Amino acid sequence: MESPGAHPDQGPRTALPPLDSPPGDRLEVVTAWNADTPYQAWRPQILVPATFRQASAPRVFVVVNQKGGAGKTTSTVELAAAWAAAGYRVRVIDADHQEAALSAWLLPQYPEDSPRHSLRSVFFEDCTLAEATYPTRFAGVDMVPSGTDLQRVEYERPIGAEQALADALAQEMEEAGGRAPYDVTLIDAAPSLGLVTVAALTAGDEALVPIKVGGLDMKGMASLHKTIRSVQRKTNPKLRVGAVLLTAWDKSSFARQLAAQVSEDYPEAAVIPIRRSVRAAEAPLTEQPIRLYAPDAAPAGDYDQAAGVILPTRETTA
Ligand SMILES: Nc1ncnc2c1ncn2[C@@H]1O[C@H](COP(=O)(O)OP(=O)(O)OP(=O)(O)O)[C@@H](O)[C@H]1O
Ligand SMILES: [Mg+2]
Repeated sequence: MESPGAHPDQGPRTALPPLDSPPGDRLEVVTAWNADTPYQAWRPQILVPATFRQASAPRVFVVVNQKGGAGKTTSTVELAAAWAAAGYRVRVIDADHQEAALSAWLLPQYPEDSPRHSLRSVFFEDCTLAEATYPTRFAGVDMVPSGTDLQRVEYERPIGAEQALADALAQEMEEAGGRAPYDVTLIDAAPSLGLVTVAALTAGDEALVPIKVGGLDMKGMASLHKTIRSVQRKTNPKLRVGAVLLTAWDKSSFARQLAAQVSEDYPEAAVIPIRRSVRAAEAPLTEQPIRLYAPDAAPAGDYDQAAGVILPTRETTA
């Protein structure tokens, strides 16, 4: 696939094939939880409430939760891989100055003999978003990398930083004659609600909130809620919460209560369990999405289904 970024493809890219998980492995999709199902008979289900509205391309998603280790980077990589496998042109943006785990996982393919840009350069207007976009080794997935120098945005606070990403996306679209160069943009936020995260939420159409089932922090959830509402009021009225992903999901009464709580907090969001698997933790070390490293592992299939619910793929709408 042609790379729409400023940098041409660097050699062959690995294809992300569709998954053919057996139907028995697919999660059931329901429109309401049935609280009467006895614990023994209860299985993980995807909740798609009647109030949920499916997204359409082009779409900018922000994967956000200020709690560390919630599954943001994993969700970004797997949803990107699922949408690319379905034929969408996908760009991921690493907005985490602390870890840059996304850049370490997907490895941007820098051209030789030219300066290396990153998201920081976009905030300081040293380059355009397209110039900071590089191919990855995976067909259909490009990325804007970051390094620890992204934290300069937090303490130098360049003028207009809150709007910088929204402006960069708008400018790029204008230069492309009103056409978005990517069908899907996924921003992997840092575990903080700092300036870069606010800029990401200001640029986004939709927030996707991963919550690790064992690592819930009610105070943290309340401040995320507050930040999203204040971005909606002040800088981005169109922002909505499209889905909550319950990551590293295991069957427990707590998981069930959490799902019920989350669907009350975000009544228009799809609530999607992503089952726990050690394969998920291993995948970054192999520098591949779980989808390629362990296509039979539950999270690969769950993220594939999640992608189809959040933004229907051509196959699911056909
Ligand atoms: N479905 C899963 N099953 C088991 N482990 C998982 C699953 N999803 C994510 N993990 C593991 O949980 C840890 C945290 O995930 P991840 O790095 O995606 O979270 P994060 O929110 O991006 O973290 P940070 O806030 O540090 O950026 C990682 O070790 C990851 O491999
Ligand atoms: Mg992360």
